[in-house]
Amino acid sequence: KEEPSIASTSGSGDSSNGAMPADINWDELGFGIDHMAPYMYRATYHPGSGWEGGLEPYGPLQLDPSAQVLNYGQSVFEGMKAQRSAKGNIVVFRPDENAARMMAGAERLSMPPPPPELFLEAVLSTCRANAHYIPPQGKGSLYMRPLLLGTGSILGLGPAPSYSFVVYAAAVGAYFKTGQLTPIDLIVEERFHRAAPGGMGGTKAAGNYSPVLVVQLAAKQSGYADVVYLDAKTDTYLEEVSSCNIFVVKGNTIKTPPLAGTILPGVTRKSVIQLARQLGYEVQETNVAVTEAMEADEIFTTGTAVVVSAVGSLTHRGVRKQFGEAGQPTRTALRLYEALTALQQEKADDPFGWIVPV
Ligand code: COI
Repeated sequence: KEEPSIASTSGSGDSSNGAMPADINWDELGFGIDHMAPYMYRATYHPGSGWEGGLEPYGPLQLDPSAQVLNYGQSVFEGMKAQRSAKGNIVVFRPDENAARMMAGAERLSMPPPPPELFLEAVLSTCRANAHYIPPQGKGSLYMRPLLLGTGSILGLGPAPSYSFVVYAAAVGAYFKTGQLTPIDLIVEERFHRAAPGGMGGTKAAGNYSPVLVVQLAAKQSGYADVVYLDAKTDTYLEEVSSCNIFVVKGNTIKTPPLAGTILPGVTRKSVIQLARQLGYEVQETNVAVTEAMEADEIFTTGTAVVVSAVGSLTHRGVRKQFGEAGQPTRTALRLYEALTALQQEKADDPFGWIVPV
């Protein structure tokens, strides 16, 4: 396989020698595939020989129509960001957490997990090879997407005979089209559930994401950024949003749904719980009734892609509850957004050891 030279973060010339690509307007980054990074990492797993792979140019994967993942969906993924820090370093945030979550997902879907050392090496080498696609400090990040796929062929239902582990990356900005600090409008979904007890809602499986599209697209057409799901058993308690976890604030107390197998164990969720406690909030991982959310002072969402996003309004059964001033992020969401991003961008100390230099 081609081993690209490690891209430097400065210098001149075209993108292949590491200079920042001239055709990217760093002030107008969205969350999409417009600025796909040129190198990806790909390893394959065959029983007997284990994992083997390395960096290669970004490009198509060749799969048989009978590949397990295309027929039965053996697929888990991760989302991670590399950023340029205020100290001039390139850093990633808690990659060990993503490695562990992918291993847990692999077990749930009967796939061989990429060992944490391989996961880390793949992520860091993808980062280094694509360093010229990491936006200038404060303008965005290099979003990395590790995938674990059952790519071997099979016809009857069973696990794939072989697997691929891929990490590709793209330069990105804010996830929601309205921008990072503009509050989002959410609507409570009343027809479908995202996950059920005993299912795989707690796994970052590809299969958890397309079933939400039917309601998410309808919500978007009505002007909402996304939907909030309720629990499948009682239709009473908040679960999560299609793309992120959810938190509800009342006074000094912050509540977020517990990890009971139906919601995604978000790395940002876990980090924000710790940061909020450090800031003096009382944080409870507990069931939150939708009626309680409708009477909250604030709601915000967390995720790698969304970071911390204030919720401007929540609509439930035709009733719309507004939070804070229109267009302005609410206080707790803003405090936590600032605390998290200061840490992620090395503007603040990292007492937890969450920041990993590339
Ligand atoms: C992330 O936040 O990284 C995710 O994987 C969520 C996805 C819907 C963008």
